Amino acid sequence: MPKLILAPSILSADFTRLGEELAACESAGADWIHIDVMDGHFVPNISMGPFIVEACKRATKLPLDVHLMIEKPERHIEAFAKAGASHIIVHIEACPHIHRALQHIQSLGCKAGVALNPGTPVGAIEAVLGDADQILVMSVNPGYSGQKFIPSTVAKVKEVRKKLNALKSSARIEVDGGIDVETLPKMKKAGADVFVAATAVFKHPKGTKAGIQSLQAKLRST
Ligand code: DX5
Ligand code: ZN
Repeated sequence: MPKLILAPSILSADFTRLGEELAACESAGADWIHIDVMDGHFVPNISMGPFIVEACKRATKLPLDVHLMIEKPERHIEAFAKAGASHIIVHIEACPHIHRALQHIQSLGCKAGVALNPGTPVGAIEAVLGDADQILVMSVNPGYSGQKFIPSTVAKVKEVRKKLNALKSSARIEVDGGIDVETLPKMKKAGADVFVAATAVFKHPKGTKAGIQSLQAKLRST
C-alpha cells in the first residue's frame, strides 16, 4: 500500500506568519502542502495565485499540491509549474479538454490531478482514470474552508477505488473538505490515500503542530 499522505491546506493558515506556519507543518510531520487557488468565478471566493506558490517554494521543502478552482485552468498551468508546483489539479467541471490538460501538466514535470465536485458523478472522469496521477474527490462544495463534510462522498471514494483497482492503476485518491479526526478514518477505509485539511490543522485549539499530530495519529491508528 502506498504511503498515506497528510496535506495541510494553507487556506486557513495565518498569512501574517506563513513561513512559520509552513515550518510548523513540516516539523510536525506534514507530507505535502495543499494550495487552494480560487478565481471568484468557478467558486465564489478569491484566494491566491502563483506568487504565493513561489513564496511557499522558498519556505518549505515539502511538495506543493496546487488545487486549481478556476475557470479555463489551461491558461495558468505553466505559471503554476514555473512557480514550483509539484502537483497540479484541475476540475473536470472546468476542463472540457481534460486529456490535453493532464498531458500538459505532466509534460512540465508535475503530477497531474483531476478533481470532481460533490455533485459530479464518477462517470465524468471515467475516460481519464488511467491517465491522472491523482483523483481529487471533493467532500464539500469547493470555495471555502470550514464547511461541513458531505457523507455521501464516502461511497464515491469507494467507487473510484474500485475502478482504479480494476485498471490496476496506482493513481492516488485525495479527499478534500471537512476532513478531521472523525471523517478521516471513514475516507481512509473507503480507499483514500491523500488527506487535505485546513481547519483541523490551522484552527486546532492547541496550534498548527498539534493539528498535524492529531491527524497523523489517526492516519496511523485506524
Ligand atoms: C475547499 C478547498 C479545501 C479547503 C479545505 O474549497 O479546496 O482545500 O481549504 O478546508 P477544510 O479542511 O476546513 O474543510
Ligand atoms: Zn483544496
